[in-house]
Amino acid sequence: MVTPNLSITLAGCHLANPIMTASGCCGYGEELAEIFPISKLGALVTKTITPEVRPGHPPPRTAETHGGMINAIGLANVGIDRFISEKLPWLSQQKTAVVVNVGGKTVDDYVAVSEALAPYDSVAMIELNFGCPNVNEGGLEFGANGAMAARTVAAVKRVFPRPVIVKLTPNVTSISDIAVAVEDAGADVVSVINSLVGMTVDVSSWKPTVTFNRGGLTGPAILPIAVAMVDACYQRVSIPIIGIGGIASAMDVVQFMLVGASAVQVGTSLFVHPDGPVRILKDLTAYLKSRKLASVTELIGKVEKY
Ligand SMILES: Cc1cc2nc3c(=O)[nH]c(=O)nc-3n(C[C@H](O)[C@H](O)[C@H](O)COP(=O)(O)O)c2cc1C
Repeated sequence: MVTPNLSITLAGCHLANPIMTASGCCGYGEELAEIFPISKLGALVTKTITPEVRPGHPPPRTAETHGGMINAIGLANVGIDRFISEKLPWLSQQKTAVVVNVGGKTVDDYVAVSEALAPYDSVAMIELNFGCPNVNEGGLEFGANGAMAARTVAAVKRVFPRPVIVKLTPNVTSISDIAVAVEDAGADVVSVINSLVGMTVDVSSWKPTVTFNRGGLTGPAILPIAVAMVDACYQRVSIPIIGIGGIASAMDVVQFMLVGASAVQVGTSLFVHPDGPVRILKDLTAYLKSRKLASVTELIGKVEKY
């Protein structure tokens, strides 16, 4: 049998395969490129970029949990000016699609970062982070309020000419309501999900395990929640969905695609197996062959529900 076709098209962008990195789990890509050729990725997603340089919260800002981790990094990043001068030139030379994740405290912040990125064609898409649970301002309120999310998407769409992905928070009553609101406002893609609010306590010191007290829970423990949320969004929106949450194997990818994801992002598992995406691609190809599927797109939304 011929090798199955792994390529996909996301809002008009051609990706060599559906495997992307998740924001915040491989910085700006340089370290990952020392582990494997990042041209193997469908796309690389950067850490959230804000208008200002942010040092983030003091350590400890990550802690292990059963089947995952808590993080409260606090959106540490180099800020948009240094990102453009120091990080983008290297990223632009990589033979993979570059997605820049965008954050801010106000609608104007999202617009300013998106507008600054607009002239750079090497930024194939931007992803709006509407759900950071570990900052005091500009985190969850953007993703938890459909009207505010919609207003922000509409404002960003006016200044950024290429596809806009909206990354949704699971820390809401109905994630699909927010997905519908941002689709109506012009979002091209939604990514589902960001981290869940979580907290763990050190029983020796009686202190929370991260200095922000609470953080974002990620990793294999959240996979079933994320799959259910992708399924819920797929019932209600017609724009493509990127599945995120606990992905560590090709079989995890298949689950997300069967419930409607067109692509996926790999996050926490990169800290355990930084070369995981290479193994996932190999195993995904073998799976498609075993199922006699010619293209990975044949999986999308094909779950056979009871
Ligand atoms: C250490 C760490 C830092 C993260 N930083 C960001 C970030 O800057 N922006 C963002 O949108 N998501 C961030 N995330 C969330 C991930 O992109 C992803 O949505 C989440 O971890 C769920 O996927 P996973 O279970 O595969 O890690 C971060 C996650 C981790 C673990």
